[in-house]
Amino acid sequence: MTLRLGVGDIQQAAELLRAGKVVAFPTETVYGLGANALDADAVARIFASKGRPPSNPLIVHVADIEQARGLAEWNDSAQSLAERFWPGPLTLVLPKRAVPDIVTAGGPTVALRMPAHPVALALLRAAGVPLAAPSANLSGGISATRAEHVLAGLDGKIDAVLDGGAAPGGIESTVVGLAPPRLLRPGLLSVADIEAVIGPLLRGAGEGTHLPSPGLLERHYAPRTPFVVVEDAASHVKPGEGLLTHLEHGSRIVERLPADPAGYAAGLYDALHRLDAMGLARLWAEALPEGEEWLALRDRLRRASTPRP
Ligand code: TXA
Ligand code: MG
Repeated sequence: MTLRLGVGDIQQAAELLRAGKVVAFPTETVYGLGANALDADAVARIFASKGRPPSNPLIVHVADIEQARGLAEWNDSAQSLAERFWPGPLTLVLPKRAVPDIVTAGGPTVALRMPAHPVALALLRAAGVPLAAPSANLSGGISATRAEHVLAGLDGKIDAVLDGGAAPGGIESTVVGLAPPRLLRPGLLSVADIEAVIGPLLRGAGEGTHLPSPGLLERHYAPRTPFVVVEDAASHVKPGEGLLTHLEHGSRIVERLPADPAGYAAGLYDALHRLDAMGLARLWAEALPEGEEWLALRDRLRRASTPRP
C-alpha cells in the first residue's frame, strides 16, 4: 500500500522517513524518492523499489549548507557555488565523509543538493536528516514530474507519495564534480551560469561520449514505446504514431511543447508520460536546436530514444 499524502501532511511524511520508510516528494526539478541517507536499510529500499543497479549512486538532499559540510570534504568552489545557486538545481560531487557506502555505490565521493521546492525544504527540515533521493521512477524510465507519474511506476512499491503538484522545472539538476570542476550531467542550471562562478568546466568531451558518472547510462528517461528523434519529424509520423515537437504542427497525435528551453523542460516528461500511455506503435520527436541552452534537453531526448540493448 502506498499512502497518498498532501502538503498538509509534511510532519507525517517526515515521521515515516525517520522510521526508515521510503517517501516520494516534489522538488523544483522532478519528484525524488527519498529515504534517510544515514540509514543503510532505508536506502536499500530505494534501490529495491526502483530496480536501480547498486552501482549507481544517489544524490543526498540537504536542508542547508551546514548539513552538506558535515557530509563531505567541502572546498572553496563548493562554497561559492552553493552560496550562489542553493537552494536550486545544482548537485555537487565531493569527497564523502560519514555517508553509508550504499548511498555512494561504494565510491569515495558523495553527490549533494539543496532543493529549492518549498515542500522539499519543509520536509528536509521536519525530518532533521539528509535524504537520499533519486528521481522517483522505475530505473531507466521517464522521470516523474507529477505524483500521478510516481504512482504509475511505483504504486505498491513505496510507502508514500507527498503530492505537491507539478514539479516546475521539469528536468533534473545539473551534476558537477569538483576535483577538478567537471560537468557530469547537464541539467536545469545552465553550464554558463556555473562557469561564471568557477570558470571553465571540463566536459566528458561533449555529448555522446562516456561521462565519468556511473548513472549516465546511454538508455535512460525512456518511454516503453519505440522513440525516434529526427529533423522534420512531422513528415515521418504515420497513423497510430505520436509526435513530440516544439514547432508549429496541425495534425495527428501530437504533444506541442514551447520553443524555449525552460518551457520545453517544464513540459517534456509530462508529455512523454501521456504519449507513452497511449499504446502507440512509435513516437517521434523533432530534433532540438544547436546551442548550449538546449544541451540538457538534447541529452534527455538522445538517452530516451536510445534503443534497448
Ligand atoms: O534533479 C535531480 O537531480 C533529481 C531530484 C530528485 O533531486 N534527482 C535525480 O537523481 O535526478 P538520479 O538518481 O535520477 O540521478 C542522479 C545522478 C545520476 O546520474 C548519478 O549517477 C549521479 O547523479 N551521481 C550520484 N552520485 C554521484 C557520485 N558520487 N559521483 C558521480 N555521479 C553521481
Ligand atoms: Mg533518474
